[in-house]
Amino acid sequence: MESTSGHVFWLFGLSGAGKSTLSIALQRALNETPGTAALLLDGDRLREGLCRGLGFSDLDRTENLRRAAEVARLGVESGLVVIAAFITPLETQRRMVESIVGRDSISLVYLAAALDVCRRRDVKGLYGRAAAGGVEKMTGVSSTFDAAQACDLRIETGAESIEGSTGKLVEFARGRLGKRRRVSG
Ligand SMILES: Nc1ncnc2c1ncn2[C@@H]1O[C@H](COP(=O)(O)OP(=O)(O)OP(=O)(O)O)[C@@H](O)[C@H]1O
Ligand SMILES: [Mg+2]
Repeated sequence: MESTSGHVFWLFGLSGAGKSTLSIALQRALNETPGTAALLLDGDRLREGLCRGLGFSDLDRTENLRRAAEVARLGVESGLVVIAAFITPLETQRRMVESIVGRDSISLVYLAAALDVCRRRDVKGLYGRAAAGGVEKMTGVSSTFDAAQACDLRIETGAESIEGSTGKLVEFARGRLGKRRRVSG
């Protein structure tokens, strides 16, 4: 029998590494498979509502991530596939998220793009503003981003095309979801 248990694909990396870009691409790909609608949790969107009022101190970022992980866990319990896109700068926060969702129900995906590449992309103009002193606690600039120590998949989004990265992510996700079905089948 096919399992109804959900799974979380948690994408993390610097601002500009491609979390939003690849989560939308993955959501689109998964939604093509009947019965696999994916819930998307993007840091920017959560800060507009559920996490409104939280800032960018380590404490507030941790609280932001805790809430996101709790929502993801509820999604998993309802059998949903959840795609989460959060910088998740600290290794302790990655471990917290993993333990809230449950190790077997989450795949941590590191989007590796060097700070210089993200700075050149500067999608939101944040790096430019940070250089001019206009952004406090800019990750990688004035706020820590721990090197990724343990992850289930690493994608070189700083070096390859969007199509290449999307292909790897979708293949990994399909494999992970297929395995989940087989294991419980
Ligand atoms: N291989 C790739 N994967 C993803 N994005 C890529 C890739 N190559 C280039 N890009 C570009 O990099 C940018 C990534 O921006 P995106 O908004 O997705 O980053 P983000 O990680 O969500 O940042 P933030 O934390 O600020 O929300 C986009 O302009 C995208 O077109
Ligand atoms: Mg984003």
